[in-house]
Amino acid sequence: MQGNSREVSSSQQGCHEQLEAVVRKHLAQASRRPPAAHTVAAFESVHAQVEASGKPLVLDSYCGTGMSTALLAQRHADCLVIGIDKSAHRLQKHEAGAQGHYLLVQADCGDFWRLALAAGWRADHHYLLYPNPWPKPGQFKRRIHGSADFPTLLALGGVIELRSNWQVYVEEFAQALALAGVEAQAELFTAAQPLTLFERKYAGSGHHLWRCWCQLGHNTPPRAAEHQTR
Ligand SMILES: C[S@@+](CC[C@H](N)C(=O)[O-])C[C@H]1O[C@@H](n2cnc3c(N)ncnc32)[C@H](O)[C@@H]1O
Repeated sequence: MQGNSREVSSSQQGCHEQLEAVVRKHLAQASRRPPAAHTVAAFESVHAQVEASGKPLVLDSYCGTGMSTALLAQRHADCLVIGIDKSAHRLQKHEAGAQGHYLLVQADCGDFWRLALAAGWRADHHYLLYPNPWPKPGQFKRRIHGSADFPTLLALGGVIELRSNWQVYVEEFAQALALAGVEAQAELFTAAQPLTLFERKYAGSGHHLWRCWCQLGHNTPPRAAEHQTR
């Protein structure tokens, strides 16, 4: 498939110079921001169904149209998959998959993660597929690993897989994991069968695709590796 999507362009060529300081600060204190009312309502709309299902949970955060959510429900047929995206516009474009158990939720991911964690939910797998890169250096705290929601992501546990067409983003994510004492690496991969619309677009445009995955325990709260800043 051909495409003409532009590569991520940034004045930032390597990992952000504030990465360690910002990640350590967040690991020392996760976000306590109260969740937005619309995400509380979205969480409550699926809460009973998730609890009743009794199935292992797979989260597909930043799911866009939910193409990956339906495909992941086929891949993880014994699980309940929840696709989360803040955009009603994108979610409305969802084309229902034939099989599998999945839900789509319009919500802010960070808020949803905190509510899920507080409810005692834990992820078996957590997919983070092509989050917005926020490529300007000043946007670092909007990236997943630069945000105060990063410790909550870690606390939800499971096998985490992040994908991006921006190498720097994935390398930063791996470095942030290392600061939390989790070993992971950024690696190139080929998307033989695209999991998402953005993956299809980027692969069709000849972009290199990067991913980072790691296995997190369910019972180990994230702590900064080595010493923490005070
Ligand atoms: C680049 S798109 C990728 C969508 C999909 N994963 C794919 O690969 O086709 C990033 C998505 O993240 C969503 N998003 C951005 N910030 C979000 C947030 N805080 N909470 C939930 N969704 C968010 C956007 O609405 C958008 O659909």
